[in-house]
Amino acid sequence: MTETTSTASAGSRRPLVVRTPDELRRATATAGRTALVPTMGALHEGHRSLMRIARERADTVVVSVFVNPLQFGPGEDFERYPRDLDADTEVCAQESVDIVFAPATETMYPAEQMVTVDAGAMGGRLEGASRPGHFTGVLTVVAKLFHLVRPDLAVFGEKDAQQIALVRRMVADLDIPVEIVGAPILRDPDGLASSSRNVYLSDPERVSARALSRALAAGREAAPGGAAAVRTAALAVLEGAAQADPPVELDYLALVDPATFTEAPDGHRGAAVLAVAARVGATRLIDNTSITL
Ligand code: PAF
Repeated sequence: MTETTSTASAGSRRPLVVRTPDELRRATATAGRTALVPTMGALHEGHRSLMRIARERADTVVVSVFVNPLQFGPGEDFERYPRDLDADTEVCAQESVDIVFAPATETMYPAEQMVTVDAGAMGGRLEGASRPGHFTGVLTVVAKLFHLVRPDLAVFGEKDAQQIALVRRMVADLDIPVEIVGAPILRDPDGLASSSRNVYLSDPERVSARALSRALAAGREAAPGGAAAVRTAALAVLEGAAQADPPVELDYLALVDPATFTEAPDGHRGAAVLAVAARVGATRLIDNTSITL
């Protein structure tokens, strides 16, 4: 893929920015092996690591930038979600991305969306219980992006562990011919997982928010003691953080089976995911770690 629109700066070639399915089809006509990195923009270091994985594995890298209204519930941050396509395109240029697909909402959802992808029972657990309809919105837009871009592979961050597990399920259950690649969680030096929502945090909130990764680390260290010990150790950190100023308000802490996101029983052996969601001020954060029991 060699098409360009303009040159951003020395050493980085500006990607082609396309807005419609027709433009996208033309741009990918001779794309060869194609990797998609689906995003909602506000690109950060975590996204860069996804783009680098995509770059290594494909001839053409497509980054989609679309703040998907379908995955936000009433009262969530859809309106205030950070949007800056120029800055995002510059990040893509620096990471040698070929195409940025940035459709308008009316392009993705021209009429009222009548048919959606049901996320099933797994979609109602943890994040899905706290954010009803969220995963139906995610899977619907991801399915649409897969059909529009027709990638050979798609790269998702493992920070959204339940999201990537559901995307893997969708691809398997609906026979969608795309390889799903997970990118390890990227952390800032203070342990906070990279997230577009971190920009909402004030300095004191950011200090409180570190409790999430500390809780996960405590849980991981307790793994030799089994599932109950993992939960107890992680909860102890979060109970302390609930007393901090500003406090960390726990939504859930769960130790789950990585394939189904059902609770791991106390005698569970093998792989598990320790997942946490909490609110610090007005910002809702999630994080997780893989644990072997
Ligand atoms: O992880 C995200 O940023 C979004 O959920 C995704 C996968 C781009 C779908 O809108």
